[in-house]
Amino acid sequence: MSMNNTTLQFPPSFTWGVATSAFQIEGAAAIDGKGPSIWDTFSHTPGKVIDASNGDVACDHYHRYAEDVDLIASLNVNAYRFSVAWSRVQPDGQGAWNELGFDFYSRLLDKLREKNITAHLTLYHWDLPQALQDQGGWLNRDTATHFAAYAAEVARRFGARVATIATHNEPWCSANLGYGNGQFAPGVADPVAALQVSHHLLLSHGLAMQAMRAVKAPAKLGIVLNQWTATPASDSPEDIAAAAHEYARSVQWFMDPIFKGRYPELALKAIDQSRFTVFENDFNDIQQPLDFLGVNYYFRAFVSTATPPVPAPAQLGVSDMGWEIYPQGLTELLLALKAEYELPPIYITENGMAEADRIEGGRVHDSRRTEYVRSHLLAVQSAMEQGVDVRGYFYWSLMDNFEWNSGYAKRFGLLYVDYATQRRTLKDSALWYAGLVAQQRGLQRAATSTLGLPPALATSTIAEE
Ligand code: FCB
Repeated sequence: MSMNNTTLQFPPSFTWGVATSAFQIEGAAAIDGKGPSIWDTFSHTPGKVIDASNGDVACDHYHRYAEDVDLIASLNVNAYRFSVAWSRVQPDGQGAWNELGFDFYSRLLDKLREKNITAHLTLYHWDLPQALQDQGGWLNRDTATHFAAYAAEVARRFGARVATIATHNEPWCSANLGYGNGQFAPGVADPVAALQVSHHLLLSHGLAMQAMRAVKAPAKLGIVLNQWTATPASDSPEDIAAAAHEYARSVQWFMDPIFKGRYPELALKAIDQSRFTVFENDFNDIQQPLDFLGVNYYFRAFVSTATPPVPAPAQLGVSDMGWEIYPQGLTELLLALKAEYELPPIYITENGMAEADRIEGGRVHDSRRTEYVRSHLLAVQSAMEQGVDVRGYFYWSLMDNFEWNSGYAKRFGLLYVDYATQRRTLKDSALWYAGLVAQQRGLQRAATSTLGLPPALATSTIAEE
């Protein structure tokens, strides 16, 4: 393998997956004893979600999970990343467990096992039980303790049936979009509160890690962080300093406490610490050894202090979210992390793009998505060639779903979802991914035929690689 290799060639042990999260796909918002979460409340609040939609039905995955697992299997992947809705298994976020809720995840795990797909479970993908929000949510330090109890219970029940358990998904978003600018639930716009929330999220991560270790869960334990590099828009000292600050407040803010037991000085200097309560001992709790680190990568930060700011060059264009497509940023990020931290094995737990997909004649021609995945996989491969220990890649997302405050307007899936009928259609990118994964895993080509592809298409999608 050379550094400029344009052929994808991953080790046979590499994990190939797709990812989802509970609120975005499950629906069944108030069925079988599930309690409301902050995203139920938020999405039912007028003006919060662009298309005024909510998660009541979503992809109806709660009822269609078996069909969905069959579809996952048809992609030839050997791993599936999903999250547990805390309020489904513990309606109030503390106290009684809901057996019917656990039963759902148990059925899902059975079905995954039947298909030889390993399960990668996330405990918190943003859907805090509303009952805990009513007591202050993540601003209340007690929420961290409740989270640890929930984590221990899930690990006790499922720790031998899943490959990995991640405490949080993207605490940066929970803090900065949930509390910093109000774009996400619970919709608070108070940057100082966001800092406190980020600290409680980190604390809850550390307490949950300890609680799960105590039940001796065989699963590998870690956390999933969304990360980016920060490129200064120019060589000006202002832009360079602003980019360094952006990296400190976003990436190092979450990495340093976990790996170094402190917050980054550069970020701390810039904040009002009078309303930011951190106990010295908290870092002993937060700095727990990880079995793996999940990295979610979508774009880089392009940092300009000019007015108006200089936009990112976006030489490869932007996605339907308006996010710059910048695959080499993933290589740069992984190398930067390796240079600074003692890293455990890494999974790319999310990477993908939204596109304004349409069904035409039963097909979805999303060639830009295929190119997005291919180029980002090359970026991962390049980082691996330079010594970064990456064990797997999960495309975001298995299927189109509820994209938070964008509702159903943004489509990230490998599967197209017609929300009126709940029909799923494999997009061209799904066919390509299935072919690639089959080839990388050394599966018999016959695997692709389960997709019902015309043979010519099956051949040409694989021949690309
Ligand atoms: C990530 C989230 C995921 C999805 C993608 C597009 O930030 O973890 O749920 O919304 O972005």
